[in-house]
Amino acid sequence: MPDLYLSISSQSDDVIEAVAASMDKRAAEPEMRRICADYMRALPQSAEVLLEIGCGNGSTTGLLLENARPRALVGVDPSEGLIERGRRRFRDDPVVEFLVGDALATGQGDGMFDVVVAHTVFSHLADPQGALAEAWRVLRPGGTLAIFDGDYATNTVALFDGDPLQATMTAAQRNLIHDPYVMRRLPALVRAAGFGACRTRAHGYMQTETPDYLLSLIGRSVDAAAAAGEFGSELAAGLASEASRRVADGTFYGAILFVSLIAEKPLDA
Ligand SMILES: C[S@@+](CC[C@H](N)C(=O)[O-])C[C@H]1O[C@@H](n2cnc3c(N)ncnc32)[C@H](O)[C@@H]1O
Repeated sequence: MPDLYLSISSQSDDVIEAVAASMDKRAAEPEMRRICADYMRALPQSAEVLLEIGCGNGSTTGLLLENARPRALVGVDPSEGLIERGRRRFRDDPVVEFLVGDALATGQGDGMFDVVVAHTVFSHLADPQGALAEAWRVLRPGGTLAIFDGDYATNTVALFDGDPLQATMTAAQRNLIHDPYVMRRLPALVRAAGFGACRTRAHGYMQTETPDYLLSLIGRSVDAAAAAGEFGSELAAGLASEASRRVADGTFYGAILFVSLIAEKPLDA
């Protein structure tokens, strides 16, 4: 089963609701808030206009406003359902505008933005080079590109060699993430697109006592594996309940390596 985000605009409202709830859980976790503050504070502060590509329901938008303080923020996402939820969330905030749009065709003018951010989007794209070309087009010379995503091939919930719970992470890689390795190839792709001053940083994310996001990822990955005919419903339910048992026992461990990349469009471009 391919990554559902590849066809996000045709997903049912139930799927959109599950995605939105999972993104909200992740963005609210103290560990993720710390990681976001860490990379977002390295962005130009108080930029005139920031474009958030793949803004979803705006789970991360508040963190961008808090940590980079742009004067205006435009968010684009191909899912009308997610954009509608984002509009409701920021209806009283004149700084934020949410529009339906794609990473390959944002609908924005040339050189309009000081900063372009894509937060956990590139691992879901079929054409990362096309998205980089679009980011280049809409950025002004001297503008900043920031891409943050999981190096999802590192996801682990294993406590020992051959731990069956790890099958939930490999199921997530097969069914929920189009390209788990993209962050390893991205620096070369970003340089090939013409960007300079490319800096990457690793951000360790580990959850033990209250792994709300990882539990929702496990739930979505076993459901997706069951829908793809990989897992029977008993195995899917058993793995999800094993994860909950470990949380209740205080033995759960889960970790993901996230990576941020910040690059610049040269002033003479
Ligand atoms: C994992 S979610 C992250 C959402 C949001 N950035 C956040 O951190 O909460 C991935 C997002 O990428 C969006 N997406 C999928 N394909 C896209 C595309 N071709 N162009 C732009 N966004 C896309 C999805 O709709 C979804 O909102």
